[in-house]
Amino acid sequence: MSDRKKIIVTGGAGFIGSHLVRLMVNKYPHYEIINLDKLTYAGNLANLQDIESSTNYRFVKKDIVDFEDIKSFFLEEQPDGIIHLAAESHVDRSITDPLSFINTNLVGTANLLLAARDCWKEDYKGKLFYHVSTDEVFGSLDLGEETFFDEQTAYDPKSPYSASKAGSDHLVRAFHHTYGLPIVISNCSNNYGAYQFPEKLIPLFINNILQEKPLPVYGEGINVRDWLYVEDHASAIDTIFHKGTNGKTYAIGGHNEWRNIDLIKLLCELMDEKLERAPKSSEQLITYVTDRAGHDMRYAIDASFIEKELRWKPSIQFREGLSKTIDWYLSNKEWLASVTSGAYMKYYEDHYANR
Ligand code: NAD
Ligand code: DAU
Repeated sequence: MSDRKKIIVTGGAGFIGSHLVRLMVNKYPHYEIINLDKLTYAGNLANLQDIESSTNYRFVKKDIVDFEDIKSFFLEEQPDGIIHLAAESHVDRSITDPLSFINTNLVGTANLLLAARDCWKEDYKGKLFYHVSTDEVFGSLDLGEETFFDEQTAYDPKSPYSASKAGSDHLVRAFHHTYGLPIVISNCSNNYGAYQFPEKLIPLFINNILQEKPLPVYGEGINVRDWLYVEDHASAIDTIFHKGTNGKTYAIGGHNEWRNIDLIKLLCELMDEKLERAPKSSEQLITYVTDRAGHDMRYAIDASFIEKELRWKPSIQFREGLSKTIDWYLSNKEWLASVTSGAYMKYYEDHYANR
């Protein structure tokens, strides 16, 4: 790819997308970064307040499900790269409303692929479609086994969310195989860090501890997840975008497996210390509730391929990352309040609509 690039990041107003956009805007001043996002409940432009005036950054409010609009935008902009993160991302919501996941994750991804194919017209030199996916496409591992997901693991998605992401991965590979579209895919484990919407485990529990509300642990709390600090995921995406091989898949993880209940107890301990509450007081908020339907038992990633091939590895240890994450939420209580009250939805009208 040439030195100057125009890159469309979809879902750049979300949790991971906002960290990636910030990284790219600051690291590559000669690039033009376009953040394309519909601003669903999960999109929050306040996440990018610090870079919103950068000359190499632009936001466009668009829905990836609207094919005509996306195609004409791509034809007009002629981007060099697409980094596709826009998605419905919360498993619990996919259980109550699967269709919105199928629309956004499957139809939306197909629309972007078609728009990229049609705008690049088989002149693929210097072009790349990067699809950001999840380890949930591989299904569930057993507890206590020394088994891991990697690039060779067969797909076996179990939730409407993971099935819609698996389908989108297949579409991306099909466009590579059929039309020669240059692509890369990454499948990453659970992310945590600043700006995560407080419906996911870690920010939800931080918010509930702050407010002394119950901590709803699904089932027995013995499900295992492999946690990665979000800035490490953003750096992996940057590395794969610039150094990855056309057509390849990369599994990204933190070598950091935690049973939910152990993670929750660590979170409670750190919060008690930081809030100067009596030891074990937050743990008393733990409430075991009905399990998530079809709850995957364990995810774990063997990330040795990306580590060897691209020399990427996580930089932040879990205890340090979790402590930094809690500190961020404690110093940004107004962000939490605006997200939980819904006030953040006005940010676009107040800061962007009349630009
Ligand atoms: P998120 O829910 O925080 O953000 C999703 C973003 O996509 C939001 O800004 C939202 O407004 C936007 N969006 C949704 N529907 C859209 C549409 N129709 N058109 C345009 N924009 C739309 O998600 P996240 O946690 O940042 O995840 C980003 C990507 O990474 C997703 O594709 C997800 O599957 C994947 N992923 C997430 C994790 C994780 O732990 N969060 C781990 C691995 C992979
Ligand atoms: O593995 C990558 C995936 O990680 C991403 O693709 C998804 O977008 C992301 O949401 C995440 O999925 P999970 O379902 O693993 O994340 P969540 O934070 O919802 O839940 C983490 C674990 O905590 C899971 O075992 C369910 C449990 N849980 C979650 C919530 C919200 C609870 O016990 N109580 C809760 O209230």
